[in-house]
Amino acid sequence: MNAVKQDRHHDHSLVEILAVLGIDLLLLCLTLIAGASRAGLIQTLPLAQLSMPTAAPTMNVVAAGYSSTTQPATPTPDPRPPLRALAEARGLLVGVSVAPWWLEDPHYSALLTRQFNAIIPENAMKWDTIHPEPDRYDFSQGDAIVEFARRNGLKVRGHTLAWGNQLSQWMLEGDFTRDQWIQILHDHIITVVGHYRGANNDHTVFAWDVVNEAVGLQGELYSNFWLQKIGPEYIPLAFQFAHEADPDALLFYNDNGGEGLNPKSQGIYNLVQGLVKSDVPIDGVGLQLHTDTFIAPSEAELVANMKRLANLGLQVHITEMDVRVQNIKKSLSEKLQDQAGIYRRVISACLASPNCTGFFTWGLTDRFSWIPGHTGYPDAPLLFDENYQPKPALDAILEMLK
Ligand code: G3I
Repeated sequence: MNAVKQDRHHDHSLVEILAVLGIDLLLLCLTLIAGASRAGLIQTLPLAQLSMPTAAPTMNVVAAGYSSTTQPATPTPDPRPPLRALAEARGLLVGVSVAPWWLEDPHYSALLTRQFNAIIPENAMKWDTIHPEPDRYDFSQGDAIVEFARRNGLKVRGHTLAWGNQLSQWMLEGDFTRDQWIQILHDHIITVVGHYRGANNDHTVFAWDVVNEAVGLQGELYSNFWLQKIGPEYIPLAFQFAHEADPDALLFYNDNGGEGLNPKSQGIYNLVQGLVKSDVPIDGVGLQLHTDTFIAPSEAELVANMKRLANLGLQVHITEMDVRVQNIKKSLSEKLQDQAGIYRRVISACLASPNCTGFFTWGLTDRFSWIPGHTGYPDAPLLFDENYQPKPALDAILEMLK
């Protein structure tokens, strides 16, 4: 008994000594680290960012796209010919995605109507907004956008009729048979496309993303809501319903990540080739191009992909381009030069492809980009900064269109 105990007592004083030594050592290390970081020898990052890309120090929260607190200053007039004029001279549509409330900002709408000739409702025509209850449609947001377009001589790409996201609650809770889901899809497309065909048939809404993001990374059909409820037939059915509702509208299959040559773009090619072969009314493919300087496809791949789609008689629209810079570890001005290189590459590929008839970015200004909200990090992915000032990316595109 004594021996064991004895040892522990002896151990006690040793433990105390070690503890004191340990604390001193720890304090010494921390002092050394603090000293080194003050001296800039090492960079200490907030824990949250240790594993993630750092944000360029000069990018402010507004550029993060979170709600903009300050009204942008009146943008300095740009003496150069606007993008719209140069594009129209080449018969090219150039546009941006919008929300109705952004159009109320006079600086925003002045810049948009000067530089672009087409717009896309970013969310206003999706199921959860336009068809909130089984027997109720809400066209208010879509109508505001289409009215703005009519007033300013802009075209509208309708977005989107059959997609697995942003569906209304009644659908997610709905217990319907396959045939009932086909009827629901039919009635929705007939009603929405019919509504925007427009009383005076002026084709303001001249094209639709009929089916969106239905192909997976390996080229397989993506298991989304409609594939589960109806099966692969939902794709040709959606195109037939849209054509029935507006025989003059251009009908597109739209997707992301299938812009260059890869298993996904092969899957998209096989899908649209099948639709063309079975006389399904499809007119084009939308290449979204949500990209960055690391994953952007080469110009050669873009041209080759557009060419094979041309051989199917299909048009191509670049539908949702934005180029993230949050992952680049360079100064903001260097990041924006790299970004301009990607925009130059894509517009060059489009100009080299006669079937590329439209070029759209997913937003007009960094102030309202969806990306920071989606990634949780500040970014500046578009042609105009949060103060509506043109960026090197716009310079690159204007240069190519001259
Ligand atoms: O409308 C609700 C509002 O009532 C609520 O207060 C607010 C707060 O949560 O959310 C609002 O809904 C948001 C909606 O945008 C409208 O602003 C959703 O949360 C948000 O998830 C949704 O994000 C949109 C996203 O699609 C949804 O998938 C983005 O704005 C939009 O840019 C993005 O666009 C898609 C294209 O349609 C298809 N291709 C990819 C592209 C980027 O994801």
